[in-house]
Amino acid sequence: MTMSDDLNIIAIYGFPIEHSLSPVMHNAGFNELKLNFKYIPVKVAPSDLKEAISALKALNFKGANLTVPHKEEVIDYLDEISEDAFLIGAVNTIINSDGRLLGSNTDCKGFIAALKEAGVKDISRKKVVLLGAGGASKAACVGLLREKVKELVIVNRTVRKAELLQENYKKPFKKSKIRVLPLDCEALRTEFSDCDILVNTTSVGLKNDCIKLPIDSLKSDALVYDMVYNPPKTKLLKSAEKHGLKIENGLNMLLFQGVLGFEVWTNKKAPVSVMKKALFDAAYK
Ligand code: ATR
Repeated sequence: MTMSDDLNIIAIYGFPIEHSLSPVMHNAGFNELKLNFKYIPVKVAPSDLKEAISALKALNFKGANLTVPHKEEVIDYLDEISEDAFLIGAVNTIINSDGRLLGSNTDCKGFIAALKEAGVKDISRKKVVLLGAGGASKAACVGLLREKVKELVIVNRTVRKAELLQENYKKPFKKSKIRVLPLDCEALRTEFSDCDILVNTTSVGLKNDCIKLPIDSLKSDALVYDMVYNPPKTKLLKSAEKHGLKIENGLNMLLFQGVLGFEVWTNKKAPVSVMKKALFDAAYK
């Protein structure tokens, strides 16, 4: 079945999905380029994911995004996945290429693009301390390791989870320097003293909470990056700002992962500033 001969549908599957900002961002881009594309949010319960993925073929949708909680399980239902998606263990973008569903993960490149937008120049000369070892952390790890980050320190409350990431990435990124530390404020002091970029990938901050960290030990030119974008300034970012540090939240990462998907589906250069305005207006209206 085909929705219409020339209308290209992109869906985002999530559970819940009401709060997704992606439809506004992508539809603004499609409108700007006058493309016959439409981006729709679809609430898909975990038990329906397999059928929802096969529906992409049946309805001839052009592609899809996946958000929580579907990014990992979806891999089982796709025809092919990219190397990044394999390394991260998650897919956020699908293209339907003549009935074959190809999955990729644009979060890692989106994260790197956001770091560059925040003024980071040569990642291969940076020491990065990464808080968290969940899905968001894996995307950041793969992005940073692909850029040959000088040193990556993964810090997590559950140390074993960080060690598993270290073990997984040692082999594909042979020359990398990856270390693991427990989430301990005092132990982090020395670590912070030569850290160039501190990245929070945990969900802490979403509810106006905060992990206890020795922010005062960071160098004055360090960047503090929080993947949380709502609130726009988490307690972590406020504290870093108070210490005179550069700060950046996760909204540009959402923008750039979307830009990459847009370009894959449409084969056109994305109108980034239009998409950014729509996204930021929707997020912070
Ligand atoms: P996501 O896919 O968004 O990364 P996740 O896979 O559930 O989410 O991972 C959440 C991360 O936030 C984990 O690293 C988690 O630490 P644990 O592995 O120890 O659970 C971290 N996290 C969540 N709440 C936390 C808290 N209150 N303090 C410290 N770390 C926390």
